Amino acid sequence: MGSAIIGWGGALPDRVVTNDDFAQRLDTSDAWITERTGIRERRMGGTTAGLATAAGRAVLESAGLTGADVDLLIVATTTPDQTLPAVSSSVHHALGLSGGGFDLNAACAGFGYSLAVADALVSSGHRRVLLIGAETLSRHTDMEDRSTAILFGDGAAGVLLESRPGRELVLASDLGVDGSAVPILYSDLGGKIHMDGREVFRRAVRIEIQSITKVLDQAGVDAKEIALFVPHQANLRIIEAVNERMGFDLDRTAIVLDRTGNTSAASIPLALAEAADAGRLEDGDLVLLSGFGAGMTWASVVLRWGTGG
Ligand code: ACO
Repeated sequence: MGSAIIGWGGALPDRVVTNDDFAQRLDTSDAWITERTGIRERRMGGTTAGLATAAGRAVLESAGLTGADVDLLIVATTTPDQTLPAVSSSVHHALGLSGGGFDLNAACAGFGYSLAVADALVSSGHRRVLLIGAETLSRHTDMEDRSTAILFGDGAAGVLLESRPGRELVLASDLGVDGSAVPILYSDLGGKIHMDGREVFRRAVRIEIQSITKVLDQAGVDAKEIALFVPHQANLRIIEAVNERMGFDLDRTAIVLDRTGNTSAASIPLALAEAADAGRLEDGDLVLLSGFGAGMTWASVVLRWGTGG
């Protein structure tokens, strides 16, 4: 059994928060934020279930299907609305899905983890798996802390996998976690995000380069053959550092962080969906996804885009 991505889409809250909005009340500036992160604005508002449901509707619409056609839902999130039940329960109900549903928390690497799991589940007999990354990080951010407040945004996006016998979607995946790094990025129950930004930055670049090198090797693919690199959208300087080492250029890189900030598990599917909508992907293209996040977790996936052959 194999699978293919047959639908994609995303949803963002209406409220736009610009760098100047922060500069009006914190000791920061548009110039500092743009230069150090590449972020110009981000969206804030809504609930994780609400954003995930809107993204799920967009995915189903793009595939020309209804909720009843889906037999499994995975919501990748590190910002659920409630401790229990899972966000996926509300989304499953709102979209009228059939079959099961569960949440997966691997922070900003959540989409890559979920894609590897979804691909395996389709291979083992599920017909269609809806996979959504959804976050409301603004609810867990201290808006008075200039070093974190400017980084994060809210949003959701996803893809629909359908079983396609004989078609290989995921060529290789590299999933990892280094729990010794928990203290550099965490949020206690009911608390706000604490982050050693400099250390996260340093480790993120190193981990992404290692993970990408490994997954390309496993897939037997040269970096030159990657049609589109879809990195986690945390900081443009992290993306540029990885690009420089791997030989990718910005023409082959999907970027949305200038308009969304870091939306954790939603960031890679938001960038992927925008690239697909813009016609940047063709049937058979090799796509590389790579994310890192709190945990520290990481996930890199090489996939073949399209539904043909
Ligand atoms: N405006 C102005 N100055 C600021 C701001 C701000 N918004 N934030 C920090 N500064 C100051 C600092 O206080 C520091 O001042 P000092 O030198 O007087 O102490 C100075 O700027 C430099 O601080 P650094 O932390 O060294 O700045 P850096 O260039 O590393 O940029 C940043 C900080 C943007 C946080 C960067 O480290 C980063 O992006 N790190 C990675 C974060 C990340 O990827 N997090 C996502 C993890 S994914 C997840 O799971 C949610």
